[in-house]
Amino acid sequence: MKIANIVGARPQFIKFFPISEAIKKYAANSDNVVSEILIHTGQHYDYNMSKVFFDEFGIKTPDYHLGVGSGSHGEQTGQIIQKVEDVLMKVRPDVVMVYGDTNSTLGGALATAKIHIPVAHVESGLRSFNKKMPEEINRILTDRVSTLLFCPSKTAIKNLRNESFNNVLNNGDFISRDYFFYNADSADAKIDNPLVINTGDVMYDAFLFSVNIANRRSSIIEQLQLEDKDYNLLTLHRAENTDNLEKLNEIIDFINEISMDRNLIFPMHPRMKKVYGSSRTKFTDNIKIIMPLGYFDNLMLLQKSALVMTDSGGIQKEAYWLKVPCITLRNETEWVETLQSGWNVLYKNYSGSHKPLVNDVSYYGDGEAAVRIVSALIKTIKQ
Ligand code: UD1
Repeated sequence: MKIANIVGARPQFIKFFPISEAIKKYAANSDNVVSEILIHTGQHYDYNMSKVFFDEFGIKTPDYHLGVGSGSHGEQTGQIIQKVEDVLMKVRPDVVMVYGDTNSTLGGALATAKIHIPVAHVESGLRSFNKKMPEEINRILTDRVSTLLFCPSKTAIKNLRNESFNNVLNNGDFISRDYFFYNADSADAKIDNPLVINTGDVMYDAFLFSVNIANRRSSIIEQLQLEDKDYNLLTLHRAENTDNLEKLNEIIDFINEISMDRNLIFPMHPRMKKVYGSSRTKFTDNIKIIMPLGYFDNLMLLQKSALVMTDSGGIQKEAYWLKVPCITLRNETEWVETLQSGWNVLYKNYSGSHKPLVNDVSYYGDGEAAVRIVSALIKTIKQ
């Protein structure tokens, strides 16, 4: 079985890592010949937006690098569709995996479905219900053309049910690790009858793998001369925030207010760097702007921070797993469970403190989502 994987933007390299490990493990323990093809669209290309993650996780060099780079949505997505199609016509994989909600996800999914190769969507079913976000359009359309929809949470299952996806495995409950061993023939996945599975979140797999490594390897706290729980962390890069100057000014005001009595570290995404010059409001002096970080340094910085403010999806969950109070710089979030836990709050609703629940709930699986995803592929995709 040939499994092609399309990645292109920073979070996708992290999501791909556990899947790649699970494919290798499966191949080593099975008589089936399983091969993995890696296609990098080139959506992200700076060292600290792309290669650093390959180096940290030991991910293989992509088999195909499409060099698409930056551009308008049409330009970027269009080029991805065209170039992915060329590769797929040559490689003819049995299934194509796409990850998350970026232009690489949608471009990859459209190119694949149109030449009748099954699409498997990792992190399916998330919705913000805000169609002004490019990510929301990407998610909805990718889910529509997918044959296998791997959901990270119960909420994602519910969202897909509401959109009339009815072929839901195990009644939408989190499947056991060996589900396909005991129920080998129970699942049927076709483009006209796509299969929805609650596998848990691959980001949790990556997080559990990385947290101890970060503790051992990262020296970012010493490099930046920080003290444990004595600083706040900020990430801000969503187009809905950075590309609307009014909104950006409002958010910078909010951040400045929260950071009056504590230093703030801000690894600045290139999109934000581009627009910061034009924003009327500026960050106060106790905000230290640094370059974007690799995964291990970022995890370390988050772990030791007193509070994080972010518009990233991944960081909201990592903050929850690390029990760091989080303020989400958006009007809504797809990761609603983190709000329910009390560790996360939307900035408009922030009243000066967090009220985390005492009981710890595991909303996003058990850290072995990738194993479930790979067994689902092997059992349901016809070669
Ligand atoms: C993309 C995703 C977003 C995801 C984010 C992770 C879309 C629509 N959005 O947003 O969901 O959360 O990745 O980081 O796909 N740039 C560089 N160097 C790079 C990459 C980008 O300088 O290596 C600059 C360019 O000026 C580019 C801008 O950043 O125009 C934005 O990059 P782009 O790929 O369009 O989207 P992101 O904002 O990164």
